[in-house]
Amino acid sequence: MRKPIIAGNWKMNKTPAETRALVEDLKTIENRTGAEVVICPMAVSLFAAAEALKGSDIKLGAQNVHFADKGAYTGEANAASLKELGVEYVIIGHSERRAMGETDQQVNAKVLAALEAGLVPILCCGESLEQREADITAEWITMQIKQALIGVAPEQIRKIVIAYEPIWAIGTGKTATPAQAEEVCELIRTVIRKQYGAKIARATSILYGGSMNEKNAYELLAQPDIDGGLIGGASLVPEKFLKIIEAANQPA
Ligand code: PGA
Repeated sequence: MRKPIIAGNWKMNKTPAETRALVEDLKTIENRTGAEVVICPMAVSLFAAAEALKGSDIKLGAQNVHFADKGAYTGEANAASLKELGVEYVIIGHSERRAMGETDQQVNAKVLAALEAGLVPILCCGESLEQREADITAEWITMQIKQALIGVAPEQIRKIVIAYEPIWAIGTGKTATPAQAEEVCELIRTVIRKQYGAKIARATSILYGGSMNEKNAYELLAQPDIDGGLIGGASLVPEKFLKIIEAANQPA
């Protein structure tokens, strides 16, 4: 059985003080579901989040990691430091970072560095509207996943979470239909199955992200190959985030 994962990508929102306040609010949420809840604040707010999360079941994630273990990379943060702060998950290859120039090769190196440090990568993939309209979504997603997983051993793939986030649905209020989202998540599972076998593919958690909210979450999360969500905007509003967590509590 795959455990549902509901991860909040806070993006560049919430100062350290605001992070503490939002974490205190989230801690009052009674998660009666079996879902794993993760929040991913800005790098500079991770310490505040880690402190405020003490004693809570909510897990901490980062939004990025560098692939090198240390060195002359001004402005970057390494996996070991994230780990030391209490970070367990890290978003890798988000389309907003890819738009800033992050390449498939860098995404792959970051996945390997995260695994090496014992962090769980939330590996993001997704097509643009032009790619969807040109009917190359399947090829594009397959390529992104294969490139990101170069050198990832079978025992490591179990520790990776994959998030399908169509770029045209991110922050636009335009959600993929449950059928569109399921189609690509199923494809991702097939790519994993071909490379790593059926058992590993069955155990891999695949999330959907892109304008997921308290209204559409139930239907999206009811799809057989969607095991959770990566949520931006709605994750900053505790009542909405709670409803999405509750929607995750469905039989697969
Ligand atoms: P959104 O963002 O929910 O605000 O569309 C999702 C994401 O980018 O992870």
